[in-house]
Amino acid sequence: TPTTSTSPVDSVPPNYYLEHVESVHHWTDSLFSFRCTRNAAFRFEAGQFTMIGLMANGKPLVRAYSLVNAPWEESLEFLSIKVENGPLTSRLQHIAPGDPVVIGKRPVGTLVIGNLEQGGTLWLLATGTGLAPFMSILRTPDVYERFDRIVVSHTVRTVAELAYRDEILALPKNELLGELIGDKLIYYPAVTREPFPVNDRITTLITNGRIFRDLGLPALDPVRDRVMLCGSEAMNADCQKLLEERGFTEGSSGERGTYLLEKAFVTK
Ligand code: A2P
Repeated sequence: TPTTSTSPVDSVPPNYYLEHVESVHHWTDSLFSFRCTRNAAFRFEAGQFTMIGLMANGKPLVRAYSLVNAPWEESLEFLSIKVENGPLTSRLQHIAPGDPVVIGKRPVGTLVIGNLEQGGTLWLLATGTGLAPFMSILRTPDVYERFDRIVVSHTVRTVAELAYRDEILALPKNELLGELIGDKLIYYPAVTREPFPVNDRITTLITNGRIFRDLGLPALDPVRDRVMLCGSEAMNADCQKLLEERGFTEGSSGERGTYLLEKAFVTK
């Protein structure tokens, strides 16, 4: 006999879609990603984020997450840290295929390539889960059409945290994007707390010039370079200072600039 209690399906507020987990990938003890179903009406631009999470006690328990998938993909993908006592991630890390999740209907965010001056070299500077919005951008053809070269710098503490490393390295051979990418895409990983060929923070690598020497590229100049930042508050602030000192100006949806920044939503 049917019970009188409301099912989670009935109680999802109108500003959220109810979706279901398709697959989960655990990168490390503290980092995972998952894919879920996508409502056909859900639209977003590569680089944007939305509120996602679980229903808890009849209410959405949500945090801001960047979309990792490209806008044209049939499922949605998210990258998350796991925080033992984090209200959301302590539960979210246990999701399995078939489980319900809620997805905010209105994605937002300034980290979209249309907010940048076009052409030149695009530098995507990420730490930790800050790589998430850049994966969506890298999986979308537009970026390769609009910029001459794309450098992806991902800095993490341990080698295992270099999420999507194999995928980024394989992108030039991708069936759909490979031809467009050609030799435009450069991946520059760095690991700060384990042995690795590049062991420094991105701020150090920019200041001492190593990243430019390694890549055979001239030092950052707003005349030909565009930068997107996505990391912790401290990383964003430190990089922003370096960019402002070099004459870069921040863009927004109102006005194009030579750099953009968004906090990596390392949530609890
Ligand atoms: P480090 O190991 O030297 O702290 P986190 O997990 O703390 O967000 O850090 C992710 C990566 O970002 C780490 O490699 C860390 O280096 C680096 N990082 C942390 N703070 C900054 C900063 N202010 N500027 C540049 N990189 C940073």
